Amino acid sequence: MAPIDYPLLRSDNTVWQHLIVDRKTRAELKSQRPRILWFTGLSGAGKTTIANHVDKLLQAAGKHAFVLDGDNLRHGLNQDLAFSVADRIENIRRTAHVAKLMSDAGLIVLVCLISPYLQERLMARDLMEPGEFVEIFVDTPLDICAKRDPKGLYKKAYAGEIRNFTGVDDIYEPPTSPEIHLRTPGTNPVDLAQQIVAHLELL
Ligand code: ADX
Repeated sequence: MAPIDYPLLRSDNTVWQHLIVDRKTRAELKSQRPRILWFTGLSGAGKTTIANHVDKLLQAAGKHAFVLDGDNLRHGLNQDLAFSVADRIENIRRTAHVAKLMSDAGLIVLVCLISPYLQERLMARDLMEPGEFVEIFVDTPLDICAKRDPKGLYKKAYAGEIRNFTGVDDIYEPPTSPEIHLRTPGTNPVDLAQQIVAHLELL
């Protein structure tokens, strides 16, 4: 393999290029205010299910949205990343930047990532325009997620076949002041999606 003889992380010698059609124009064209709805919570908490229902409600109302799901991104853009602390940080960083670009394009972006670290969620928030980042804590207790186990991963994690599984043998730092806190037991995803859309006045 040829040695790498240049710095891997370099943004020297690049100049920010001004784009004529700006984010405000793009958002106006879509008659909406860009937002980043950042769903955080354990695996199996219901992040993607709820986000899908929000997406459906928005689509039905003629709004332009897109779901960025952690599992799906890990099949493409983030397929080189695993679940070490460093890889999760990079996973969140890349996803936050993609979400930012999509919001620049005028979209309402629904991000579904465990995103277990307070610091990284703060990084994502700080990247966005003021007021556009909405942290949604999908608060489903571990025992319920593990009982649901939609992908069979908790079983493997408890059997020691998967290491560093969030909630089992890896940390999850719950949000301290999320914009929206969904305590999911006893609720259903369609109602929660409707609450989100109404609360944020997205339609
Ligand atoms: S994050 O921690 O980097 O934000 P992300 O949301 O992208 O995680 O991916 C989580 C999904 O990967 C889980 O829903 C689960 O399907 C799968 N997964 C595989 N291994 C792990 C693990 N060790 N910890 C958590 N999720 C895992």
